[in-house]
Amino acid sequence: MRAHELRSAWDRFFEGRGHTLVPSAGLIPHHPSAPMFTNSGMMPFVSYFLGEEAVPYDPPRAASIQKCVRAGGKHNDLDAIGRSTRHLSFFEMAGNFSFGDYFKAEMIPWAWEFTTSSIESGGLGVDGDRIWATVHTTDDEAEQIWADVVGLPRERIQRLDADNFWEMGETGPCGPSSELFFDFGPDFGADGGPAHGSEWRYIEFWNLVFTQYFRGADGELSDLPNKNVDTGLGFERTLALTEGSSSLYDADVISELVGAAQEVTGHRLGRSDLGDIALRLLADHTRSTAFLIADGVIPSNEDRGYVLRRIMRRAVRFAYLLDVSHAVLAPMIQRCSAVMGDAYPDLVSNSELILGVAEREEGQFRKTLAKGSALLDGELDDLSDGDTLPGSVAFKLHDTFGFPLEVTEEMAQLRGHEVDHQGFDTEMAEQRARAKAASRGTGVEVGDEADAYRRMITEGGPTEFVGRETPSAEATVLGVVGDWVVLDSTPFYAESGGQVGDTGSLSWPGGGARVIDTTNALPGLIRHRLVAGADTPAVASRVTAEIDNDRRDAIRRNHTATHLLHWALRQVLGDHVKQQGSLVDDARLRFDFSHFQAITPDELRRIEDLVNGVVLTGASVSHDEMTRAAADERGAIAFFGDKYGDDVRVLEAGPSVELCGGTHVSALGQIGAVKVVSEASIGSNIRRLEATTGLNTVERLRSDEAMLGELATELGTSVDELLGSVRKRNDENRALRAEVAQLRSEGARARAMALTDLAVDGVIVARVEAETRDEVRDQALALRDRPGIRAVALGAVPGGKGVTLVVATQPDGPLHAGDLMAPAARAISGGGGKGADLAMAGGKNADGLDEALELLRVAFETA
Ligand code: SER
Repeated sequence: MRAHELRSAWDRFFEGRGHTLVPSAGLIPHHPSAPMFTNSGMMPFVSYFLGEEAVPYDPPRAASIQKCVRAGGKHNDLDAIGRSTRHLSFFEMAGNFSFGDYFKAEMIPWAWEFTTSSIESGGLGVDGDRIWATVHTTDDEAEQIWADVVGLPRERIQRLDADNFWEMGETGPCGPSSELFFDFGPDFGADGGPAHGSEWRYIEFWNLVFTQYFRGADGELSDLPNKNVDTGLGFERTLALTEGSSSLYDADVISELVGAAQEVTGHRLGRSDLGDIALRLLADHTRSTAFLIADGVIPSNEDRGYVLRRIMRRAVRFAYLLDVSHAVLAPMIQRCSAVMGDAYPDLVSNSELILGVAEREEGQFRKTLAKGSALLDGELDDLSDGDTLPGSVAFKLHDTFGFPLEVTEEMAQLRGHEVDHQGFDTEMAEQRARAKAASRGTGVEVGDEADAYRRMITEGGPTEFVGRETPSAEATVLGVVGDWVVLDSTPFYAESGGQVGDTGSLSWPGGGARVIDTTNALPGLIRHRLVAGADTPAVASRVTAEIDNDRRDAIRRNHTATHLLHWALRQVLGDHVKQQGSLVDDARLRFDFSHFQAITPDELRRIEDLVNGVVLTGASVSHDEMTRAAADERGAIAFFGDKYGDDVRVLEAGPSVELCGGTHVSALGQIGAVKVVSEASIGSNIRRLEATTGLNTVERLRSDEAMLGELATELGTSVDELLGSVRKRNDENRALRAEVAQLRSEGARARAMALTDLAVDGVIVARVEAETRDEVRDQALALRDRPGIRAVALGAVPGGKGVTLVVATQPDGPLHAGDLMAPAARAISGGGGKGADLAMAGGKNADGLDEALELLRVAFETA
């Protein structure tokens, strides 16, 4: 079966059974309990499973083919890739979902029907006699359905414990599962079914999860509001299976990418194990790279960016190992978008960004690689015969230089050394523990608080946001958790999409409190943080909620200006500019975006002019709700990393059209003057601009003006004369500095001349004061040229740093300056000139200077 055939069979089967077909969500998940990457088809639906958001499908069923990455966190397949033919870091998962609708009785027979009915009648056409099923040890119901409804012989149904319990991550929805396995037959390994037989023979391809629990951050399971279904059919596994292969690399698309890897590297499959691993790894890792960058991940040293960097570097390292010295990422990525661009148009529309990032990362890393190889060579040089390479070295190469263990091993073995695996594993385990500890703390609210919020949203929520229409409103208190108050409706904007939460006040008969922050407790459930220790209103009572409107106006100006800036950046720098993050508060706006080099002053001026030009039109701004399809039709840009439902808000501000749920000005003129106040790099390929609007720009002008005034006063001039005055002072300063230097050097010469009296037998050896090395040399030469002097040796610590030794002898005389210098230079741990009549040495060891001079004195005596 080809990939497009499986896509359409899946869609048709589930559409025909009342499911809404939902396009793949991005690889960056949004739910607070979600892991680093979207790792399964269910992840975009988490808040429906948890009852935090109303299910928008009628009936409440959905089906999708979701892109997934398993390269970090609980489901991490990265290290197995290449060596195992059954893992991929990027893959697709076909899934169908029931949100409190159908359950096991419908799902199990459907899975059987889709698997075994012929391709012509819309199924996979798999031989039912080859299918085994597993169920959870406690799940009598699932076993009974398999046996009595489907008619699967009992001996092909097995019970497993942990293997039949699926969890999204450390926290999140979970539940017992039933898995479908295909039996590849006795040639592939021992019989005994999936529970006891060979894992190479019985291959799982579809996981049916009966999601009915939630695992909280405290590790405890609690019941979800509904019984749900979440299934995941391994897309590539199924394609391979229909080709009679258990290797994912025989699946449509992946096999093409392995073919591309052969062309790009010039290596063929089947020549060596390592070569095969490298080709498979290249196919997989470059596909992950393309998809991750398309979804807004940029290689960096932290978080998702770090995982991406590891993936990219590993691919390059394996290419390097195959002796491929030309760039491989970009050509592989191009092939990937050619093969997958129909199903994922983002790959094509973002290709400029993806290729730019890939080329730069590969270019930089190839330089690092050369250094890593040099380090490894150096370490190997230090080993004696039979020594093993320490695990810490292998780990450093792995961690800092992206050398996979097997590559280090291969290179070490070529020179007759093994690698200390245990040491490597220990360091690796320590790093994993650190990473795991670091990833905690981003989890969902724990225990009682989380339950309290879930109850509020089920019983009285979500909170209606009325803050676009009014700055103050009456509302009912849904609940109070610590300092946080939840209302049924509110004018307070909850922090999201980079815009800070509103501040203001709540008041009620006989009381009131300041609100210092506003956030979402759950998607759609807005909570207000009262200043610590304030009185709280009673649950179910009425309050008046009022925001600080001046502050909101300032935030509004900055938010709309952010959109204009994004537009102008794309105009001036190009379409590769993509938002990576933003922060909009009442003082300024901050905008992070992908771009490869510093913005020049000229570009910056053009950007500011474009933005202010648009502002000055004063045109009105529209911010309407519409369907996602209508928004796409208007050409609205969606920011990376934001989540949008089926209905979205589109902000049209002058030429900028973007999806945005924030709050905005109603006419462009309200923004006032926009001024960029800083531009800097905040990581490779990411830059940050900060800008001000409205009164903040005026305020900044004022403080600049005040500063100029103070400067002028300090310099005893007027602001108009300031520049001329500073230049004049600089000139004077330079002249004075030159004069001081001249006087100093004359003084030093004069002092040096006094040394003539110290000459013993025409030789002067002395320690002198000097500001520079040259001064020491000048003194030595001046002394040497005094009548009766044969040789001079001077030592100094010029400017208090480092040591300088100078030996000057009569030109064409019998004394060789360089030869005399050699032993003394060693005493100051230095080295230097070997001239016949002038030798200078520089060193670090100031404590050795007296000894060095003593050595010179002896050398002259014996010369
Ligand atoms: N969530 C389950 C899995 O990933 C089924 O979709 O296997």
